[in-house]
Amino acid sequence: AGARLVDTLGRPLRDLRISVTDRCNFRCSYCMPKQVFDKHHQFLPHDELLNFEEITRLARVFVGLGVEKLRITGGEPLLRRHIESLIDMLAQLRTPDGRELDLTMTTNGSVLAKKAAALKAAGLKRLTVSLDGLDDAVFQRMNDVGFPVATVLDGIRAALAAGLGPVKVNMVVQRGVNDDQILPMARHFREHFGQGAVLRFIEYMDVGTTNGWRMDQVLPSAEVQRRIAAEWPLVPLSASAPGETAERWAYADGGGEVGFISSVTQAFCGDCNRARVSTEGRLYTCLFAHRGHDLRGLLRGAEPVSDAQLASAVAGVWSGRADRYSQLRGTAAAATLPRVEMHYIGG
Ligand code: GTP
Ligand code: 5AD
Ligand code: SF4
Ligand code: SF4
Repeated sequence: AGARLVDTLGRPLRDLRISVTDRCNFRCSYCMPKQVFDKHHQFLPHDELLNFEEITRLARVFVGLGVEKLRITGGEPLLRRHIESLIDMLAQLRTPDGRELDLTMTTNGSVLAKKAAALKAAGLKRLTVSLDGLDDAVFQRMNDVGFPVATVLDGIRAALAAGLGPVKVNMVVQRGVNDDQILPMARHFREHFGQGAVLRFIEYMDVGTTNGWRMDQVLPSAEVQRRIAAEWPLVPLSASAPGETAERWAYADGGGEVGFISSVTQAFCGDCNRARVSTEGRLYTCLFAHRGHDLRGLLRGAEPVSDAQLASAVAGVWSGRADRYSQLRGTAAAATLPRVEMHYIGG
């Protein structure tokens, strides 16, 4: 109740992204490079993670403040034990005016074939799967654990069979690493999935501090789009939701839809409505934030806090929010900011 919650730039809170584990079975070079995330790396011990009751309670508080979309991320969220129980709990939540939430997940697809039906049964509405190439040599160089493309494709098919489609497929494009996969990926998803999959090309971003990001490895979306449209003409689609990350296009011949996520060359901070809760319950108001706000301390403190107190803490953080990192990228102010690792708040 009360006045509409907006941040200092007038942006509402609509989208909550919840990381449920900092672990992953891949070592994508742009996210968890092997040299850093080796056998000595300390992942969070289990009692540091928010449990499902805590996550659901926080989600309920955020929904009370205007959140309409929940995205489960990681690390790799399907590695969290009994994740379908959490989905089931979150699927019960309703907006203040009684609507169901948009409940979705971003996964690397590695164990999806086994889990898709259970996720659907638990109430997951849709799914995003990451896949950076169709050629095993290229994909394995990127995931760096020898994981085969075919298993991820099996996962996508299982998700469609379970009724979780259309599935979004995220491809991070790195110039000179996997940009030769743009056309094969586009062709494959047009021909084999059609309207069942929406392939989105993501500009390689400077998230975290360990991936050694360089601007010359970013292939601008304009160039990706030019290469695709030269093969299959594209027509623009309008945004399906305010503050959307992807610019949407359709193949003129009816072959389906593609998207471009251009956070480097065309920052979309202007209407960014996304908050993130990390695996151990810190609230981040930007993918590039360096410091979270501890919510777990409130949940587990000696003094019990009410939902109203939690809501006022979250509202206080959101109303003070001024983040717009992608718009500031390249400026001196942005260059010196420490940043959180992406595997820990989940993209
Ligand atoms: P839907 O399209 O509704 O499914 O949601 P989405 O676009 O948020 O989906 P997804 O989680 O797949 O996000 C796609 C990619 O966009 C992420 O993997 C990030 O790389 C990037 N991204 C998402 N949110 C942000 C953001 O707030 N800022 C920046 N800079 N990049 C983002
Ligand atoms: N730049 C762009 N996208 C990234 N992702 C992970 N790291 C990066 C990066 N440095 C993507 C993953 C996945 C989503 C969670 O974020 O590929 O699709
Ligand atoms: Fe794992 Fe996703 Fe990071 Fe790759 S991008 S290491 S799959 S969390
Ligand atoms: Fe939102 Fe930060 Fe991404 Fe900008 S850089 S769109 S403010 S999360």
